[in-house]
Amino acid sequence: MTVVDDALTPAELVSELDRYIIGQHEAKRAVAIAIRNRWRRRQLPDELRDEVLPKNIIMIGPTGVGKTEIARRLAQLVKAPFIKVEASKYTEVGYVGRDVESIIRDLVAVSISLVKEESRQEVAQKARAQAEGRLVDLILAYRAPGNDTEQGVTIEGIEIDGQELTQKDVQRLRESRARERVEAAGTHEAVMAQLRSGQLEELEIEYQAAAARQMPHFEVFSNAGVEQMGVDFQELLDRVMPSGPQRTTRLRVSEARPMLEQEAADSLIDQERVTRDALERVTQNGIVFLDELDKIAGPHAKQGPDVSREGVQRDLLPIVEGSSVNTRYGIINTDHILFIAAGAFHVSKPSDLIPELQGRFPIRVELSSLSEEDFVRILTEPENALTRQYTALLATEGVDLAFTEDGIAEIAQISAQVNRSAQNIGARRLATVLEKILEDISFDAPGLSGERRVIDQPLVRERLKDILADEDLSRYIL
Ligand SMILES: Nc1ncnc2c1ncn2[C@@H]1O[C@H](COP(=O)(O)OP(=O)(O)OP(=O)(O)O)[C@@H](O)[C@H]1O
Ligand SMILES: [Mg+2]
Repeated sequence: MTVVDDALTPAELVSELDRYIIGQHEAKRAVAIAIRNRWRRRQLPDELRDEVLPKNIIMIGPTGVGKTEIARRLAQLVKAPFIKVEASKYTEVGYVGRDVESIIRDLVAVSISLVKEESRQEVAQKARAQAEGRLVDLILAYRAPGNDTEQGVTIEGIEIDGQELTQKDVQRLRESRARERVEAAGTHEAVMAQLRSGQLEELEIEYQAAAARQMPHFEVFSNAGVEQMGVDFQELLDRVMPSGPQRTTRLRVSEARPMLEQEAADSLIDQERVTRDALERVTQNGIVFLDELDKIAGPHAKQGPDVSREGVQRDLLPIVEGSSVNTRYGIINTDHILFIAAGAFHVSKPSDLIPELQGRFPIRVELSSLSEEDFVRILTEPENALTRQYTALLATEGVDLAFTEDGIAEIAQISAQVNRSAQNIGARRLATVLEKILEDISFDAPGLSGERRVIDQPLVRERLKDILADEDLSRYIL
């Protein structure tokens, strides 16, 4: 099995999480321990190993304070297959809607693409070399029909006889230039050298896509009944129409390269091993993030329109407790999948869940609502902080965006204020406020190339003063 990086100590995990999430120390500690426990479990002798069950977690906290973010980052850090689902979206067996076992099937699909991507990366270098070799073959094999070389034309000064060229003309000229080069070069090695130096990107080649790639792509709708029978429609189709007619396309080298690389990678990957590893990864390292658990709990649980929420809890129980789920790739045992549930629990409490489910979530952590000081940190510290995102985005237009300290403080202060007066949506408020402040700059950016824009306190106030003066307006806009 591909090594999963859950050997990080709890302290290391927390400090990794600190790079993205401000505060919420208790929740970070809890998830870090849960991950470490998996590693510990794997060190145990066989008999004991199967006995140790994951300590599932309930994160309790208001909206927008980092519950989902913590779980998602955690999964990324340890390369665990991760899926986020809303408990309230599932229905009791027998009702129309998705049944809970589809959670596991979806998790398997996530795992497959995760492992496949990792395997692609493992073979990337080899695939690149193979694709390059094939490109050269294709270049040498293909002679464009009636490819007269344009005379006396310079591509660099894109103008012929005072006529301005369209982009298409330029491309065509580059193409014929490249063609001339290839013809002059002749040999495999010489063409390879040209290819590597980037001189042949515009050259056209003929490319026969591998059969599998041309298959019409059928979306198999997640109809639980069919999936449970383990029928793989794509596979069936592949068998019915084994190779299909080969279609030849004309492509530029730059377009063909990624396709050839992917093809080479896929042929280098052992698909069966991918599936095996992916299944193993789900059972040993899978994480299910069960959002809105509070919505299926509660004294009023049975007052729902038609579906009993207690029924959903009962359905959830077996997969949380550990059971076998049929998927199109094989049977998954859910014993060691980690469940991280979340909810605001404003109305209902974890104690309103059915006892069996409560027992399955022994760890409860509370996340605190975020303060103005937290907002300042969230705006500046994380590697993906919104201010960094906007600065980078506008830099692509040549605009130099800068936030001053008092500008940031003002944004944090206003966000906290709107959270108090309208609805408390936590850190999500920062996004709406920032978007409003930067709206004009964002719109005008293409014309502002080379300029600097400073987001300071006066500017923030100026941008938001009309909206803030009108409470109704701020409800809509911020
Ligand atoms: N403590 C935090 N530090 C940094 N960013 C945060 C923090 N809390 C929330 N955010 C940001 O706010 C957004 C929403 O956070 P998240 O999705 O984790 O909310 P949540 O707690 O899951 O809320 P909900 O209950 O509504 O699902 C994310 O983009 C996240 O990056
Ligand atoms: Mg969430």
